[in-house]
Amino acid sequence: QWPEKVTIKEVGPRDGLQNESGEVPLEDKVSWIDLLSEAGFSYIEFSSFVHPKWIPQLKDSRAVAERIKRKRGVTYAALVPNRRGLEAAVDTQVDEVSVFMSASETHNKKNINKSIEDTFPVLEEVVREAKLEGKSVRGYLSTVFGCPYEGNISTENVARISERLFEMGINELSLGDTIGVANPEQVDRALNKWKQWLPFDHLAMHFHNTRGMALANVLVSLQHNITTYDSAVGGLGGCPYAKGASGNLATDDLVHMLHQMGIETGIDERKLEEAALYIQQVLNKPLPSHQMQVINKE
Ligand code: HMG
Ligand code: MG
Repeated sequence: QWPEKVTIKEVGPRDGLQNESGEVPLEDKVSWIDLLSEAGFSYIEFSSFVHPKWIPQLKDSRAVAERIKRKRGVTYAALVPNRRGLEAAVDTQVDEVSVFMSASETHNKKNINKSIEDTFPVLEEVVREAKLEGKSVRGYLSTVFGCPYEGNISTENVARISERLFEMGINELSLGDTIGVANPEQVDRALNKWKQWLPFDHLAMHFHNTRGMALANVLVSLQHNITTYDSAVGGLGGCPYAKGASGNLATDDLVHMLHQMGIETGIDERKLEEAALYIQQVLNKPLPSHQMQVINKE
């Protein structure tokens, strides 16, 4: 009783590139995103409108938004930390914006320079204004399975913050294993708890693959009937403000597993490979996904 269909949200151009030390030229970002659009994704997070000093890799978000070819049926989304970011994003006619915060006080402070309590009114304003602009809003909650600074994070605390985000009016919440510490038993236990409070048909899971457990964690989440997953082509990615954070769950590995299991994604594996090879060549280093390791050996 696996779901028949899964939605994959490609976050490589944002979560992937925000963690790359080398600069990726604007034209290459645009060409890559265009290849992703052609590969069949219904959702691409193309960049973020954050402070350029905090994430210099994505300081060209406006130019990216202006140059990409927008394919009909694809939602082009961007991260916004506050009203200033929202206004910049709306100016480029994004389809959806994502607000983000952490379930860990220390990571929240390091990532967005505020306490958790002080973050709520900022996000509340962004969600309200975004809705007035006719945009849907996604929420991200980070470090839900563990924090590099605080260790364990309580599932009750995650539920409490998630509920507040839903009360603000977000359309979907993505729960992040920011540093890739979750294990399948823990995910199962947490989801069993969160079931009491959170609308699972509006939840997405965002696994990082630091310790190789992302696919196993997806499998457990599928058993809880969660059908939306974030991933990055080739396994790029990580949060520069979370010590030890490494690559996202690799889109290519996820698509391969789901298709082998007979679960639809709408993604064309050959075109996905083309997009992965493209960004690998731009970054000039082998991408870490299993699929790319196979391809690179051929
Ligand atoms: P701050 O320094 O506290 O901001 O940073 P502030 O409000 O005090 O303003 C300071 C200056 O920044 C002002 O300029 C503002 O105008 C400017 P000044 O008057 O000094 O010239 N400013 C901005 N400039 C451009 N764009 C903006 C913006 N906002 C203010 N949007 C802030 C607070 C949130 C802005 C900063 O901490 C920041 O940009 N953080 C972003 C960090 C980030 O992007 N992290 C990675 C994404 S999260 C992630 O990866 C996790 C996720 O993948 C899920 C998971 O894996 O768990 C989503
Ligand atoms: Mg992430």
